[in-house]
This record gives sequence, structure tokens and C-alpha cells, in this order.
Amino acid sequence: MSTSTINFSIKKALDSKINQVDWENLPFGKVFSDHMFLMEYSDGKWQEGEIIPFAPIPMHPAMSAVHYGQSIFEGLKAYRNKDGEITIFRPDMNAKRFVESAERMCMPPVPEEIFVEAIRKLVEIDANWVTDKEGYSLYIRPFLFATDEYVGIKPSDTYKFMVITSPVGAYYSEPVRIKIEEHYTRAAEGGVGRAKAAGNYGASLYPAKQCQLQGFHQLLWTDAREHKYVEESGTMNIMFQIGGKLITPSEDSDTILRGITKRSVIELVESWGMEVEERKVTVEEVVTAARNGTLEDAFGVGTAATIAQVAVIGYRDERLEVPAIETRTLSNKIKNHMDAIKTGEIEDTFGWNFKV
Ligand code: PLP
Ligand code: COI
Repeated sequence: MSTSTINFSIKKALDSKINQVDWENLPFGKVFSDHMFLMEYSDGKWQEGEIIPFAPIPMHPAMSAVHYGQSIFEGLKAYRNKDGEITIFRPDMNAKRFVESAERMCMPPVPEEIFVEAIRKLVEIDANWVTDKEGYSLYIRPFLFATDEYVGIKPSDTYKFMVITSPVGAYYSEPVRIKIEEHYTRAAEGGVGRAKAAGNYGASLYPAKQCQLQGFHQLLWTDAREHKYVEESGTMNIMFQIGGKLITPSEDSDTILRGITKRSVIELVESWGMEVEERKVTVEEVVTAARNGTLEDAFGVGTAATIAQVAVIGYRDERLEVPAIETRTLSNKIKNHMDAIKTGEIEDTFGWNFKV
């Protein structure tokens, strides 16, 4: 891919905030780097993008994204490898998914090469925010939202595409407890579940809060029609190891986010010769396996969550324990391998790391 033809205007921050960062107590997603990317869509086309000092943006009270939810986002990470170079994990995949989300939400897609170059340039400028501290990375948050100053309902004619970045450690600081949800739904067929639309997250906050009051971290969503099939968790896709096989819900429906971490884990595990089943996964088979001891492993997979091993699955009044973390040969191996690829400790034979 040639990026030489894409140019952005650049205005550097006068001072860096990096010395104020407390790396030992870094909350997820609350500390932001020195710069941000901004590009506006108006007059039927994308205008020149700019990298400017990180700062609040002015907002018209009638800004349509706030009223009607034309708003999508992405999440990806930059890493400092063992040779001191910075790499970004599979940004081309996020660029594609961002286009798909935009189309579903009736928004103008950001051309994939502009998406990738905006991120590359921003990370290059804020390179010193990419730490080599173990378990840490620079979380990159691209987002696109409607900016028409209008309270009538129609697709907006103007938009802002922005990218902000935030140094982060683990999203979950302990193995996760997830609860199978049989009443509320995240996504229905024909809806926007496959898109990374802001509203999907807003809609899931109330149900998630109910399970958090019961001591769980997140829900395990099931299909909207029958609550019979497992779909994904609130911040990650889900994988199970039952009877030696790796099993994960297929993405045939338009109700599941097509996770990049999940796709990468499948490619990795298949390269080890292990069988992976992407198919409908019933709640019953997971619950039965957990009860009779054939559920060997369960873990969430996502950019922020990374490989998040599941400790407990809540099902109605039951708390089903997944085997002890030390015994999880598969998820421990996947976790170590994925980390080692990102940090350059083992060769990136898949070509996943994009060099900044
Ligand atoms: N599902 C949901 C609802 C998510 O928010 C995420 C996070 O991005 C994922 C799955 C995992 O997707 P990815 O691996 O591309 O980050
Ligand atoms: C990500 O993993 O990038 C996500 O979007 C999850 C998030 C809600 C923090």
C-alpha cells in the first residue's frame, strides 16, 4: 500500500503531558496522548486531515450524532517490540470493518488507506507514548460521528472522523466472570449488531449493570429470537474448548461483531493443527459441558480485553466454575503466543504487525 500521496496538516503541541503519566497506576482509557487526528466530511467529500494538539472540541447542541446516534468507532493497539520499533496490530482489518460499520449506519466510509495512514502518522508523532512496559500498549480509538446542526431525522451531510490514543494496560485485571443473558438482547437479525455502532454499547449498559450487581464483569449475550445460542460478550468474542476442540459462535448472522482478535486466534490455532469449529453454539452444550467437567477452557478475545480467561459462567442461579487458570493449557499458550508475536519475541509469520 502506498501512503506517500496522503498528506495531513500537522500542528504540534507546545508541551508534552507524558511526564504527568503515572505508569504504575494507569486506568484504562482515561489518559490521552499529546495529539489527535481530525478530518471533516462536507460538500460531499473528505477534506484534508489534520493532526493537532489533543483538546476538547466545540459542539453544536443540535449535533445530530448526539440526537440520533450516527456514531461508530474502532479499537486497535500499537506495541513497542523488543527491538524498540513500533508496530500496530492488523490496522487494515479495522479499516475494513470501519467501512462496513459506516455503510450500515448510512455514513460516508473513510477510505481504508486514509484510515491507516492517519493512525500511522498519529502514532509516529506520539511515538514516546508507546511504552515497552510489559503488558502495556497504546490503545487507538478511531471514531466517526454525524455533525449536522439539525434536529430533523435524515442521514447527516457532515461528519467528523477523529483518532485519539491512550496508553493502557489490561482491561480486565482478573479472570472474568460472565453471565448468560436470557432476557435482554444485544442484537437482532437485521439490526446493527455486526457494526461497531456506539448505540450497541449504550443499549447494553443497563443489562450489563444488572449482572455487575450480581458480581459478574460482563454478560454473555444469546440470540434475540430464542436465547438458545451463545453470541458474544459485551467487550469481546467468546471461545470454548470442549472435548479437545476449540468452538466459537460463527459470524454468519449479522448479530455478532466480526472480531479481529478472534480471527487471528483461529488462524494461529489452525496453524498448530488444531481443529476449530465456527458454528452455532448452544447455551445447553456450554452449560452441560461446564457441569460435567468437559468444558476445558473458556476465554474472551478482543483488542482491549486481549485473551481474557473466564473463571465463572453464570447461568440462571448457577455459578459454573471453569477449570483453574493454571490448568488452561490452550488459552495460556494462545495468550503467550499472541503477546510474543506483538512484541517481536517470535517471528510474525502471519504478517500481522504493521510497522510505523
Ligand atoms: N465484540 C464486541 C462487542 C467488542 O466490543 C469487541 C471489541 O472490539 C470485540 C467483540 C472484539 O473485537 P476485536 O477483536 O476486533 O477487538
Ligand atoms: C475494543 O476492544 O477495542 C473495544 O472496543 C472494547 C471496548 C468497549 C473497550
